[in-house]
Amino acid sequence: MYNKDQILALQTLTKDFLQNPHNIELAKLRDVLKFHEYQYYVASSPLISDYEYDLLYQQLLSLEAASPSLVTKDSPSQRVGNSLNTNFETVPHLVPMLSLENSYNAPDLVDFDRKAQEGAGIPKITYCVEPKFDGASISLIYENDHLIRACTRGDGIAGDDITQNIKQIKSIPLSIPLSKYGIQQLEIRGEVIMSKAAFAAFNDRLKAKQIATLANPRNAAAGSLRMKDPKEVAERNLDAFIYNISFFNLIPGAVLPELLKTHSGSLALLWNLGFRSPQKEKSIIEGIEGVIEFCTVFENKRDELPYEIDGLVIKINDMALHEKLGMTSHHPRWAIAYKFKARQATTILEHVEFQVGRTGAVTPVAKLQPVAIGGVTVSSISMHNEEYIREKDLRLGDTVIIERAGDVIPQIVQSIPTLRKGDEKIIQFPATCPVCNATLEKEEIEAVWRCNNPLCTAQIVERIIHFVSKDAMDIKSFGDANIRKFYELGLLKSIPDIYTLDFEKISTLEGFGKKSVENLITAIAASKKQPLYRLLYALGIRFVGETTAKTVASHLNHLLDLKDFSEEQLQSFEDVGVKVAKSIFHFFHEPQNIQLIQQLASLGLNLIQTNTTAVDGNLSGLNFLFTGTLTQLKRSDAEAMVEARGGHILSGVSSKLNYLVVGEDAGSKLEKAKKIASIRIITEADFVELIN
Ligand code: IVH
Repeated sequence: MYNKDQILALQTLTKDFLQNPHNIELAKLRDVLKFHEYQYYVASSPLISDYEYDLLYQQLLSLEAASPSLVTKDSPSQRVGNSLNTNFETVPHLVPMLSLENSYNAPDLVDFDRKAQEGAGIPKITYCVEPKFDGASISLIYENDHLIRACTRGDGIAGDDITQNIKQIKSIPLSIPLSKYGIQQLEIRGEVIMSKAAFAAFNDRLKAKQIATLANPRNAAAGSLRMKDPKEVAERNLDAFIYNISFFNLIPGAVLPELLKTHSGSLALLWNLGFRSPQKEKSIIEGIEGVIEFCTVFENKRDELPYEIDGLVIKINDMALHEKLGMTSHHPRWAIAYKFKARQATTILEHVEFQVGRTGAVTPVAKLQPVAIGGVTVSSISMHNEEYIREKDLRLGDTVIIERAGDVIPQIVQSIPTLRKGDEKIIQFPATCPVCNATLEKEEIEAVWRCNNPLCTAQIVERIIHFVSKDAMDIKSFGDANIRKFYELGLLKSIPDIYTLDFEKISTLEGFGKKSVENLITAIAASKKQPLYRLLYALGIRFVGETTAKTVASHLNHLLDLKDFSEEQLQSFEDVGVKVAKSIFHFFHEPQNIQLIQQLASLGLNLIQTNTTAVDGNLSGLNFLFTGTLTQLKRSDAEAMVEARGGHILSGVSSKLNYLVVGEDAGSKLEKAKKIASIRIITEADFVELIN
């Protein structure tokens, strides 16, 4: 991007400006700051300290404040968002944003290569292989050297305008010397990522604020792009790799730049323009055999990278062949993703802890010798139930293979019996509750052992934790640790106690300053006004998840109406089957539960359904369920789209379901739905079409 002479000149200017702040020329200062942003964020080799950068940046702000008419659109100061976006406008892409076909092994790649050769009509193809960045995809449009728009992928045809947020990412230049290459308009694609280090720091900040941490950098990056306040985006240290030119318009009379004839050339052009393209990470390989070898070698190196990748993307290098091969409605025929396997590691199963949940279910949790797997240290994994332990023949002292499936929840894949020394022990499931000593019971059709003592301490604490949790009453600043502490101190013995806490006593406890007590008081008071479905969900009735709670609440005027519904009536609600109806009926016929609800009412909690007007839209009366990973939409957005059009979201597959929307890696729900003829199974793209 910058040649030697330019670097020298800009460094001399930097020194000058730092030594003589009174002699700064605004236009040159802008160039200097842009240069240092590039060095820091794109080239990863900063030439000045953060402190020096800040000094120069402050100079820029004061010079611009003195002469506002001299502020340019691409000034580094214009990255800072000064307005809060309340809603993101939907804008069309110049070219549809397609997805990629996936491959998982060598035969898949050989097959792709065969089809490519047939389509191209040549016997050997040259590929450009680059990382598949695990983040959120974006599209950027530059016109006459300036960034004019940035948007999310959306449904592939149109996305959300997130220009203000994208401007916070320092490795994305606000202006680029396009005219130098004879280009007037350019649409490019890339991935916004959060590095592993930025992700760890971000989660640490969330932990400190007692906010739930995020599962992976991908979610963090995608969530950050949708922040309402651009300033918050700026704090999250996002980065972006730009890997594709999807559309360009040449200046009349200009000739096609040589670099645009190959994909690798376009990466070089992007790099020259100032983007962080995978210019150094890519590899040009002739023939699929070499690609396969490269994939195998690279997969073992993924953990050495400072950011997450979930595979490699193999692209035909010759752009003329892109034209010739074209695309399906879903993906181009000139590229394929090679997805990495779930990460695995081996460790020792040291002991088992039996944890009692809020419904009394006892879950065996494997305590492992800590092992690093994909940058995360794993020392504890749920083994679900007794059957799971028996099926996998897991024993204390065993060497086990563990896996982070989908990079989120770790699982034990298997034990390695050949490594047993003879002193491994069979895992004995306890006969009594590890907390209250009551005899454990198991219903015939269930896999779990349960403590059925309603006064079991563990269950009471877990019920309170569930009650305050994010999807239930959402009482922020409480936190599991505080609940356990208050319970041990006798300050909180049941759910209603939340609303009569002795704050005077709490403010004498270590770690409870004035501010944190005030936050807690405010959050508790605010929870009294939560909508009815939240309270219904917070009660922790077995089988009543958030979605079921929403459906049931929509049929009520008052929570205690549920005392009068028969099991049959309950079953007539969408999403409520025999099991759920029985559980709700049983709950509302237990006098102590009614007493609890009445107590909550007298403490001022809302028990009334306030929004009973059903939305009338083109999906009225239709039931939807999403399964697998959606690639275009966030699941919560997709669900909201259904509800906004009058449809309902069900939590499971039943004959009441009208549409099952299937994302990537769909599993048992899809299999179950295939057996019910009335359910229409559709893809995410079909869904987008349907709602439009
Ligand atoms: S090329 C028309 N290259 O993977 C093809 N995509 O699973 C455009 N991705 O939607 C995509 N790294 O968000 C391409 N080096 C890379 C990529 C990449 C990550 C994402 C992208 C795409 C998704 C498909």
